[in-house]
Amino acid sequence: MSGIIIQGSSRSMGNTFKVIQELNKGLNYSHLDLLKYDIGYYDYAHSNDDDFIDVMRTIVDEHSTLVIATPVYWYTMSGLIKVFMDRITECLNTDKDLGRRLRGMRMAVLACGSDNIKHSWYFEPFRLSADYLGMHYIGDVHTWIEYESILPEVMHRIEDFRTLIMEGKH
Ligand SMILES: Cc1cc2nc3c(=O)[nH]c(=O)nc-3n(C[C@H](O)[C@H](O)[C@H](O)COP(=O)(O)O)c2cc1C
Repeated sequence: MSGIIIQGSSRSMGNTFKVIQELNKGLNYSHLDLLKYDIGYYDYAHSNDDDFIDVMRTIVDEHSTLVIATPVYWYTMSGLIKVFMDRITECLNTDKDLGRRLRGMRMAVLACGSDNIKHSWYFEPFRLSADYLGMHYIGDVHTWIEYESILPEVMHRIEDFRTLIMEGKH
């Protein structure tokens, strides 16, 4: 089984997408743009009738590695990714089968900001969530786009991140 990159940017072809494209050279993972799906806020009454379960099925049925790609919005993950993470709660209560299948999967996280500043705590919610879900957190990378392009320093980071993901690839 291969991997899937879940993109959570407010524009489909923006900076995060640019970095994803670079990362995916050689990985050839599936790519899913959350912006194209209808995924509602977490609802305690579980009355959402949207695309979330189908998206989760695609992730767990066909892949063993989940790469979450998010822009940096207000020092944290994008709203799209946060809503998606909130909804994973359903995999622990109403759709336990999906939660069971997330167990043992690998998670990696790519962030794309506007500069080199990476806050030490940025990736903690992902690492802790992976632990809670029984997923293997394999690592993360902070990237940024300047003058519409990927600087050599960022290229190197992406290459290292790709290598990390490919080590023990399954
Ligand atoms: C709503 C919003 C909030 C942002 N907040 C931050 C921020 O806190 N730190 C930062 O470095 N860049 C911030 N940025 C800039 C984006 O992280 C940066 O331009 C990123 O590359 C955009 O990726 P995208 O084109 O996929 O949205 C923000 C941009 C937006 C639209």
